[in-house]
Amino acid sequence: MALTYDRKICYNKLENTQGEKNMVYVTGDTHGEWERFQEKAIRRIKKGDTLIICGDFGFIWDGSRKEKQILKKMEALPFLIAFIDGCHENFDLLESYPVEEWNGGKIHRITKNIIHLMRGQVFQIENKKFFTFGGGHSQDYEYRTTQTWWKQERPTHQEVETAVANLQKHGNKIDYVITHEPPGSLKDCLGVDVAQRLEIHAFFADMVRACYYRKWFFGKCHIDKYIPVKFFAVFAQVLPVTVRDTDL
Ligand SMILES: [Fe+2]
Repeated sequence: MALTYDRKICYNKLENTQGEKNMVYVTGDTHGEWERFQEKAIRRIKKGDTLIICGDFGFIWDGSRKEKQILKKMEALPFLIAFIDGCHENFDLLESYPVEEWNGGKIHRITKNIIHLMRGQVFQIENKKFFTFGGGHSQDYEYRTTQTWWKQERPTHQEVETAVANLQKHGNKIDYVITHEPPGSLKDCLGVDVAQRLEIHAFFADMVRACYYRKWFFGKCHIDKYIPVKFFAVFAQVLPVTVRDTDL
């Protein structure tokens, strides 16, 4: 991997949050729970804002009438819902949605205001660059059946190569990293799914060393925790991407 090594660190306090017209928020896995969207933290999100979900969106699961009704209710929300995939998605159903180019990267278009941010892409959102990479390994793998587990949850080498190429197009400099899995070292540190290693864990470790980024958000661990200086495990919290460690 020919990533350029860059040790430059941007601390939260250096970020200029002034003058942004619309807000971008990040939250963790929603697991198909509509109740999450009725909570105050999400209801306060305004028209024109974006809510990014760090995997396990869970509303593209069985294609049932009930699920479609929930997606309809979600479509009536005034903001954009942009999710990456996690380990609990129906990938066959997800892949049946059309692929589009959007803000510099590839998406699956679910509805006019719900999009799936595909793996290894770089998107321009509110003048900031977001690198996205979903998928991972299901911790409950042994309890899943052929009807509830999809091999596509595991990122492929091709997807990692796509990510490397797209990062290089941006000089390995992005503003925010959005992933479902954390880098391997953080899995160990948080004690989550420590025995499992995929290629992406090594790739993410390379990114930590070789890329410039302000913050890295990930959902897999189902906890809300700030890990200085740049990592945010997100779950129930809904954080503006501009969050400072002193706000937490
Ligand atoms: Fe999850």
